[in-house]
Amino acid sequence: MNRVRAAYPALSDGYAYLDGAAGTQVPSAVIEAIADTYRSGIGNAGGAFPASERASSVVAECRRALADLTGGDPDGVILGPNMTTLTYRIADTLSRQWGPGDEVVVSRLDHDANIRPWVQAAARRGATVRWAEVDVSTAELPAGQYGELVSERTRLVAVTAASNIVGTRPDVAAIAAAAHAVGALCYVDAVHATPHIPADVRSLGADFYATSAYKWSGPHIGTVVADPALLETLHPDKLVPAPASVPGRFERGTAAFADLAGVTAAVEHLAALDPPPAPFSGSRRDRVLASMAAVERYEGQLFARLLGGLASLPHVRLYGKAARRTPTAFFTVAGHTPREVAARLAARKINVWNGDNYAWELAGALGLRDSGGAVRAGLVHYNDAADVDRLLGAVADLVPRVVS
Ligand SMILES: Cc1ncc(COP(=O)(O)O)c(C=O)c1O
Repeated sequence: MNRVRAAYPALSDGYAYLDGAAGTQVPSAVIEAIADTYRSGIGNAGGAFPASERASSVVAECRRALADLTGGDPDGVILGPNMTTLTYRIADTLSRQWGPGDEVVVSRLDHDANIRPWVQAAARRGATVRWAEVDVSTAELPAGQYGELVSERTRLVAVTAASNIVGTRPDVAAIAAAAHAVGALCYVDAVHATPHIPADVRSLGADFYATSAYKWSGPHIGTVVADPALLETLHPDKLVPAPASVPGRFERGTAAFADLAGVTAAVEHLAALDPPPAPFSGSRRDRVLASMAAVERYEGQLFARLLGGLASLPHVRLYGKAARRTPTAFFTVAGHTPREVAARLAARKINVWNGDNYAWELAGALGLRDSGGAVRAGLVHYNDAADVDRLLGAVADLVPRVVS
């Protein structure tokens, strides 16, 4: 653990960084990879000189790294600034084939970035939106309801691999199977899930797998991973001279080459967290899977400590108790608004988020939309028991105000 924490320069500032669900800190290796890319001279991609060739190989390496992280195909890795931008782009592209009578299914569990692009695209095409509902007592998204939600009219099912506020991990494989049974595509928002569990696009049944590197120790880059054969069937708007090939035709303008080198370094960082013991001759994909399985176990133990501690405080109300979840706690404190709690914790050097964190539909379903949402404390692999205990102590000290 000390080795892991020492890799992150920002963690030496004395704060407990429990805001990882909104964006993680960055290890030195990622910072160096970005700086080295600029130091070594970087041109635009596609030219005949070495600095340009370096840019092209940075892009190719980044696609390979993301394929190793997700179990996808490098030729199906679309790169872009963030998940929201890419999801709007895919929604715009896919929806060209939709019309009145067609249906898309979105879920109330999702971040708005995997809801609104589909809802707005459906509205433009006269297609119908159907909603998968959350059981508000548990914050589960029952997969069984999808059997009734999909039909031969369904073109797309969009679902999250994990809720960014309550951590619920729905049965994406079952939901994707329901989509595929009627010939629909499944778009999986894995932005919140990817830092916490081994990722595998095939076992999830994800036709599109979206994630953002800044949630797992990398720079602010997003990606959508899909089967290149599927991408071949799709034609986004593009500039005439821009690449017509896949995945390049989904990418707009000049890439952030140095940041892409940082993404590759972030995947290397994850792969090195807890690889199988030496001598080990497996691939980077194997190392990623082993490390992320260890991350899931480690975070699970830490989360039990966090949840148990919060549950023991009578002035705290916890939201969500899904059977499978990421280490993400969402809670309110009696007598204090979520913003006040976050500010009081900040004064004790604890970073947490407050609000709906863009899980706008879910915050509404939980009855929290008009009251300032809740407080979110999320764990990632660099958090430790001291971070958790500092949070628990500070929340315990938030004695409810007596309202006269
Ligand atoms: C679950 C989830 N989906 C989507 C997004 C949006 O990602 P991006 O900032 O890359 O657009 C976030 C960001 O917090 C998220 O947590």
